Amino acid sequence: MKTTAIAGRAAGLRGEITIPGDKSISHRSVMFGALARGTTEITNFLQGADCLSTIRCFRDMGIEIENTPDRILVHGRGLRGLAAPSVTLDTGNSGTTTRLLAGILAGQPFPSVLSGDASLNSRPMKRIMEPLGRMGARIASVRGNGCAPLAVSPGQLHGIRYQSPVASAQVKSAVLLAGLYADGETTVTEPTLSRNHTELMLRGFGASVVSSQTDDGRASASIRPCEELYAQRIQVPGDISSAAYFIAAGLLVPGSELLIKNVGVNPTRAGFLKVCRDMGGRIECLNEKIAGGEPTADLLVSYSPLHGTTVEGDVIPTLIDEIPMIAVLAAYAEGTTVIRDAAELKVKETNRIDTVTENLLAMGGRITPTDDGMIIDGTGSLNGAEINSYLDHRIAMAFAVAGLAAEGETRIRESGCVDVSYPEFFRTLEQI
Ligand code: S3P
Repeated sequence: MKTTAIAGRAAGLRGEITIPGDKSISHRSVMFGALARGTTEITNFLQGADCLSTIRCFRDMGIEIENTPDRILVHGRGLRGLAAPSVTLDTGNSGTTTRLLAGILAGQPFPSVLSGDASLNSRPMKRIMEPLGRMGARIASVRGNGCAPLAVSPGQLHGIRYQSPVASAQVKSAVLLAGLYADGETTVTEPTLSRNHTELMLRGFGASVVSSQTDDGRASASIRPCEELYAQRIQVPGDISSAAYFIAAGLLVPGSELLIKNVGVNPTRAGFLKVCRDMGGRIECLNEKIAGGEPTADLLVSYSPLHGTTVEGDVIPTLIDEIPMIAVLAAYAEGTTVIRDAAELKVKETNRIDTVTENLLAMGGRITPTDDGMIIDGTGSLNGAEINSYLDHRIAMAFAVAGLAAEGETRIRESGCVDVSYPEFFRTLEQI
């Protein structure tokens, strides 16, 4: 097991970084490309372990995918062109692969089994089994515990109107993808809008998807079954969830000025920027443009003294993966930060309320875990410590950044887990 040491009290970070491709968009580009007619070309695809799991699963269903250093070519076989897999589809550590694929498999005329690693196979799948079951899908938890492995059998799907109790793009996407194979329109309503990459990209591939927002903030997306999707060219923007570590590093380390290039700033993902600014962080958006329906920008980040804030409500789904990093920023800030409405943290790669709390306490932070978040009393400094990543990529990276600004050395245990979403993370950190 690899441990990575981070020397504390880093000198000002300077330079220009390009962030690897967005994980959510990379997954979807391969999935929708596989279901489309023709060859989809993807550039700046994220070569992280999670997205490679998606590629592996579609190859196991007969889709030819060329993965070269400068582009991916997905030779799609149409909406009804997947072949029955002869193996269990291995989704690794990836919740997105598992849940979105379950929605696609529900509509196939062949049986299949999906299974991942120990973390993945302990995450809740009832949230997709329930709505897919209502559509007529036959999907069962093999061990009867509501988790993967999942066995999917052919079933006739019907359009439904589903009120999701959680704002989850994975749940929304699973239902919409099954909706491609249903006999009528399918609508998903969620309490607040979660990331909308599925809706944007499926529309680009030719599906009929309509999004709307009700006055009380609830968001709906509807899809109509279609005959075919058509191949696209997709340029994946840099992942704001990966950029978050370098934005935070630039804000925390005195004397820093970093230019972070080509970051996806879709409003359903960009809550981290708002919270950093609310805390006093100086982040300038430059060179804003739209690429493939997704807004992108270069971000110029300068060292800033930070103060506490409250993070709650509708903003939570737009920064759910960045909360470990926000907790670290809060520990270095002046005053108290309250994070609430974030019970979803408990069902990520680890229970992130627990893993953030344990590691911040180890560094001398003051944190109180709550049922749906955490309260952090900023102390302005942290001490280097041994960090348990528990194989959670976002915990490893958030605490590596915490270590940069700490007194003394920080050691990140099982640091190789960064490969899930950001294989070059430690090399890029060294470079700046
Ligand atoms: C993702 C959605 C989020 C996020 C995950 C990726 C996606 O999960 O935490 O890292 O690509 O749809 P939920 O939709 O379950 O909140």
